[in-house]
Order: sequence, then C-alpha cells, then structure tokens
Amino acid sequence: MKTSFYNGEFRDDDELTVQYRDRAFYFGDGVYEVIRYYDGEFFTLDEHLDRLMNSAKEIEIEGISRDEILSVVTELKDRNTIDNGALYIQISRGIQNRNHAYPVDVDPVILAYINEARRPLSQSENGVHAITSEDYRWLKCHVKSLNLLPNVMEKERAVKAGAHETVMHRDRVVTEGSSTNVFIVKNGILKTHPANNLILNGITRLEVLKIAGRLDIETDESAFTVEELKEADEVMITSTTQEVTPVVKVDDVIIGNGQRGEITRRIQEVFSTNIHKLNLVK
Ligand code: PDD
Repeated sequence: MKTSFYNGEFRDDDELTVQYRDRAFYFGDGVYEVIRYYDGEFFTLDEHLDRLMNSAKEIEIEGISRDEILSVVTELKDRNTIDNGALYIQISRGIQNRNHAYPVDVDPVILAYINEARRPLSQSENGVHAITSEDYRWLKCHVKSLNLLPNVMEKERAVKAGAHETVMHRDRVVTEGSSTNVFIVKNGILKTHPANNLILNGITRLEVLKIAGRLDIETDESAFTVEELKEADEVMITSTTQEVTPVVKVDDVIIGNGQRGEITRRIQEVFSTNIHKLNLVK
C-alpha cells in the first residue's frame, strides 16, 4: 500500500481524495518539484527544496516553510517501502471558490506522492532522438510552475514523431527541452543556455557543470542556435529522471557518429559515482 500526502494529512493512496476547489486544478496556480532518491537516499535534496521555495516566492505564494516541506518529503519517503523512487511535490496557492485574484486567509496546499523509478540505463548508453520546435512559453520559465501546457504538447509532438524529446528554440536560439536542459559539445567545449528567465535552471544541469569543472572540460553558459545544435559533436539532455542522456539524432540529422560521445560518457561516469557515493557517505 502506498502512502501519499495532501492538505496536511498522510493517507493511503486508495483513500486519498483532493479538493476540487484547489487552485492547482483550475488555474494551475502552484509550483512543483520532482526529487529522485536512490537506494533510500535523496539526491540533491537541498537544491530541490531551495528551488521550490524560490519558485513559490516568484509566484508570491506565502505561508509555507522549508522545514515543513522537508518534514513532509522525509516522512513520505519513510512511510513508503520504495527504495528507488521519484518524489513529486506540489504547492498550490490554496482552496477557494474560483476567483482570479489571490484568496485571502487561505493556506497553501501541499500534495506529495512517490512513484517507483529506475535509472534510464539503456537510453543513457544508446541515446535518444529529438525534434525541434518553437518555444512559445511565457517569460518566467525559471519558475517550476504547474502550468505545463506548452511542455506537454511539445512532448506529445516528440512522441508522435517517434522521438524522445522536443528541443525548443526562440527565433532559432535553443532554450531547453520540454522537460530537460540541453547541452552541446563542440571542439571539446560544453555549452548550455545561461540560467535566466528563459529556462529552468535544472539541478542536473548544475551537477553536469560542476562535474565538467572537475574533469577540466571547458564550459560556456551561452546560447547556441538550432544550426549549432545539429552541427555539434555531442548533444545531451539532462533532468532528474532522465539523468544525463545523449541525443544521437535531431530532426533528420545524425549527431557526431550517431553514438554516445566521449565527453558525455565521462560526465555520466562521474554522475553515477556521485549517486553511489550517497550511500557510502552516510
Ligand atoms: N522536469 N527544464 C524543464 C522544462 C523541466 O521540466 C525540467 C525537469 C528540467 C530539468 O530540471 P532538473 O534537472 O532539476 O530535473 C529542465 C521534471 C523532472 C519534470 O517535470 O518531470
């Protein structure tokens, strides 16, 4: 039996009901995180909690504390007998009759649950295909908002095209994937869009930049075009659930030799070591 959390209470999944007046439903009025844990240990938990607090602040949700969130996610993991999972947590502005303006005297509502998750080992080795499309999202993409319509529509376009991800661009300048950050390697330099309002500053993105630093791989946080993407030696997408995944084809163009590149492989190796270290350094 799985245990989930909603509006102040832990409940068996089968018995959990949610309030239809929760603003998450009709306005997507909230923020979220997906936090991975491996062999019972959270990975980059602090970073996810900081980003969640920051997203809440950016959309002016008040009355939520980091300690409260920490205690919910910790207890939720402990109450479930899932060793390797992805914890989803969202904070909505609250429960009230539908009215655009913020409600007064209403507390934010936390929803959290866990799904079993496995490492994406096969795609990490063999790579995936991506398509490209125009990025028509709002201008606060650094906020991890519940409003994901463009993202889900663009992911679906990838699925329909037999691909794994859609890489989005604004006037040919690559921003990020529908649910991932995007990196290219050209002449040994690892490049990714700067962390501004046009992308989510992925926790995995930051891990990859740190790892590159340790491996003496030159990094460049500046934007690149769709054309540069297709002419890259290596392309990778990163996220909490996708980890570091090579992209071996973009639209109809084969990247490099059509296989995972060497820099991608070296970064993945350290990333895996970091995951395993979690359980050695307790
Ligand atoms: N998505 N960009 C977007 C638009 C994302 O939705 C995500 C993550 C990322 C990568 O961020 P991180 O490395 O912190 O997971 C970048 C999550 C996993 C999701 O919505 O399921």
